[in-house]
Amino acid sequence: MSSYKLIDGKKISQDIEKEIAEEVKLLKKDKMKVPHLAAILVGNDPASHIYVENKVKACHRVGFDSTLFKFSETMTEAKLLKEIERMNQDPDIDGFIVQLPLPDQISEERVIETITPEKDVDGFTNQNYGRIISPQPGLLPATPFGIMELLKRYKIKTTGKHAVVVGHSRTVGAPLGMLLSHEGNATVTQCHVHTHNLESFTKQADILCVAVGKPGLITGNMVKEGVVVIDVGTTRVKDPSKKSGFRLAGDVLFDEVAPKCSFITPVPGGVGPMTIASLLLNTLKACKQRNE
Ligand code: GUN
Repeated sequence: MSSYKLIDGKKISQDIEKEIAEEVKLLKKDKMKVPHLAAILVGNDPASHIYVENKVKACHRVGFDSTLFKFSETMTEAKLLKEIERMNQDPDIDGFIVQLPLPDQISEERVIETITPEKDVDGFTNQNYGRIISPQPGLLPATPFGIMELLKRYKIKTTGKHAVVVGHSRTVGAPLGMLLSHEGNATVTQCHVHTHNLESFTKQADILCVAVGKPGLITGNMVKEGVVVIDVGTTRVKDPSKKSGFRLAGDVLFDEVAPKCSFITPVPGGVGPMTIASLLLNTLKACKQRNE
C-alpha cells in the first residue's frame, strides 16, 4: 500500500488565475485590450447553468470582460449559427464558448464547426484538434490542456510511461490521448466503451486517465501499485444529505483505488477547476494573438 498524494486542481487553478490576473494588470497598465470571453447558453439544463456561471465568475476574478448570452430551449439551429457568425465578427470578443449539451434540434457538430478557430477557446473545432500535433498548436482542448498542466506542475513524468486513457470523446478522451503521446511522449493506449476486458489494460497503466461518466467504473483490483490516476468523471448523483440534493461522483472508486496510487485527483477539486483555468489561458492567448 503506497501513501498517495492528492493532485489539488483547485490550488493549481488558483495559482494559474493569479498568474493571469498579473498579466491582465500589465495589459491594463499598457492600455492594451483586456481579454473578453463570451458564453452562449441554450436551454434550461441546471448543471450547464452552474458551469457557465462559474466561467463568468472566473472571468471577473482575473479581470477579464465577460458576456453571457442565454437563449431558450426551443431556439433553432439557424438562429444559433447566426449568433455564432456574429460573435466570430465581433472585434471586442476574443474568445467564446457554446455550452454543451445542446437541445436535440441543434447539431453540435455544425455549431462547433461554425466557431472560428481563432476564438474557439474550448479547443473543440477540427482545426484546433488537428493542430494538437502541429509544431504550432492552436487553442488546445481545455480539459486535456488542464490535465497536462496538472501533470507538469506536479512534476509527474510522462515520457516513456504507459498512459491508458479510458474514453474517446471528442472533448476529452481523444484529444487527451493525442496530447499525452505528442507533447507528453507517453505510450498511449486508448480504451473506451467498446473495449473488451478493460481491466487487462488499466492494470498496465503507469498513468490512468478516465473520462467516461460512469461512477465507480474503476475499482481497486483494476490498477497496479504506484499508478497516477486522473479522474475526469463528474456525474451528478442524488445525495439527500447535501443541501443541493446531489453530489459529484468521479469514474474512479476513490476509497479502493487511492491507497494503490502515487498520485490521484479528487472529485470534485481535481480536473474540474482546471478546465476553467485552461479556458482563461486560451482566452488570454486568443486575445494576445488577435491584437499582435
Ligand atoms: N459541457 C461540459 N463541459 C463542457 C466544456 O468544457 N465546454 C463546453 N462548451 N461545454 C461543456
